[in-house]
Amino acid sequence: MYINFWYPVARSDDVTNDAPVRARILGLDFVAFRDTDGQAHVLSDTCIHRGGALGHGKVQGDCVECPYHGWQFNGAGHCTVIPSLGDDQHPPARAKVDTYPVEERYGILFAFLGDLPEDERPPIYDITEFEEPDWRANELVVFDVDYYYERSVENGLDPAHNEFVHPKQGAPGMRQDFRSKPIDVQPMTDWGSKFIIPFVHEKADQGLMSDKIHRDTEYLRGGSGHLGPNQLITWLQFSKDNIFHQYFFEAPIDEFHTRIFFVNMRHFMMDPAMDKGIMDVNMEIAQEDIDILVDLNPVRTPHSTTKELLVPADGPIVAYRKFLEDWQGRGWRIDVRELRETRTDVAYAIPCPERRTTGNWILDTVPLM
Ligand code: FES
Ligand SMILES: [Fe+2]
Repeated sequence: MYINFWYPVARSDDVTNDAPVRARILGLDFVAFRDTDGQAHVLSDTCIHRGGALGHGKVQGDCVECPYHGWQFNGAGHCTVIPSLGDDQHPPARAKVDTYPVEERYGILFAFLGDLPEDERPPIYDITEFEEPDWRANELVVFDVDYYYERSVENGLDPAHNEFVHPKQGAPGMRQDFRSKPIDVQPMTDWGSKFIIPFVHEKADQGLMSDKIHRDTEYLRGGSGHLGPNQLITWLQFSKDNIFHQYFFEAPIDEFHTRIFFVNMRHFMMDPAMDKGIMDVNMEIAQEDIDILVDLNPVRTPHSTTKELLVPADGPIVAYRKFLEDWQGRGWRIDVRELRETRTDVAYAIPCPERRTTGNWILDTVPLM
C-alpha cells in the first residue's frame, strides 16, 4: 500500500453536514464530513486529545466534534473548540489533525492521502466520456472484497484468465497469433501502463450480452490499464459502436480487504431501463473473479520475480509491478509489518501536505519502507 495517491473515500451522496462518515483506508482510519457551504473534508480520524474516533462523533456546523470530550476540528484540521478550557483560554496551535486534499468526481469523494504539493500529485483518471450525451454511466456501485487490492488490479490487467474464469461470458480469449509474442504494453501518463489486444469469443453465442451485442471481428478487442496503484480501467469493444469502459477505483482497507468503487460507462443500449440488467451481468462477472481471488496464495503479491513463474501473457502485470517498485523507491510504500506490530501502542496518521510547511504534529506518521 502506498501513500501519495488519490483514494476513494465514500459516495459523495453519503457525505453530509448531518453526521460524519468513517472509512478505513491503507490500514488507517479517516473521517469525512461536509461543512455548511457543502464543501467536503477528509481528516485523520484520531483525535489528538486522547485518541477518540472523530468518525463516531457529530458534525457541528463547519466542524467535526469528537465523541469523547467534545473537541471540535474544522475542515483545515484545526481545533476550534475545547469545552474543558476556560472562557479566556484558546485551543493551542498544536491542536490539529491531518487534513487531506479532496476532489469529487463521478459521484465519489476522493482524498489525496499523502503530503505531495499540488503540482507533484498523480492524477485521478479523467473519464472524458462521463458527461458525453452518447455515453451512459451506470449508477455507482460500491462493493467490498476480502483480498488485497493489488491482487484485484493485477487480475484486471490479466488477459489470460478470462477464458477460464468467465466461461459463462463466452470465455473471451487471446487470439492465437497474439499468444506467442509479448503484449505491447504502453505507458499511460507518467503513472501507469495499458494494453489493448484483439480477442476471440469461442462461444460467442453465450454469455455477456451475446444476444444483444452485434459482434464484429474487425473491432473485437479489449484491454486494460492502471493509473497509480489503485485505479483500474478496462476497455471492451464488441463492434464499431458497442463499447464498454469500466473503472475500478480501489481503496485498500488493509492487507486483506478492499473497497471497490465501480463506474461502468457504455456507448450503446442507452436506455436507462437497461442499467440494472447490465450491472447484474457485470456483478456476476465480478463474482467470478472474486471466487478466484479470495484463495490466492500468498495474500499479497510477491515482490520477488523468483517466487512465481511468469509467462509473456503476464507482461502487463510485470509492468504494473515495475511502477510499484518505483513508488517504493520514492519512499511511498507503507511498512505494513511495522504498522501491524506497533499499532496497539502508537496512533499513526498519513502525513498531509501541511506537514511540509508546519511542525508540532501530535501523531507519528505511518511507517514507510
Ligand atoms: S479524545 Fe477527543 S476530545 Fe478527548
Ligand atoms: Fe475477470
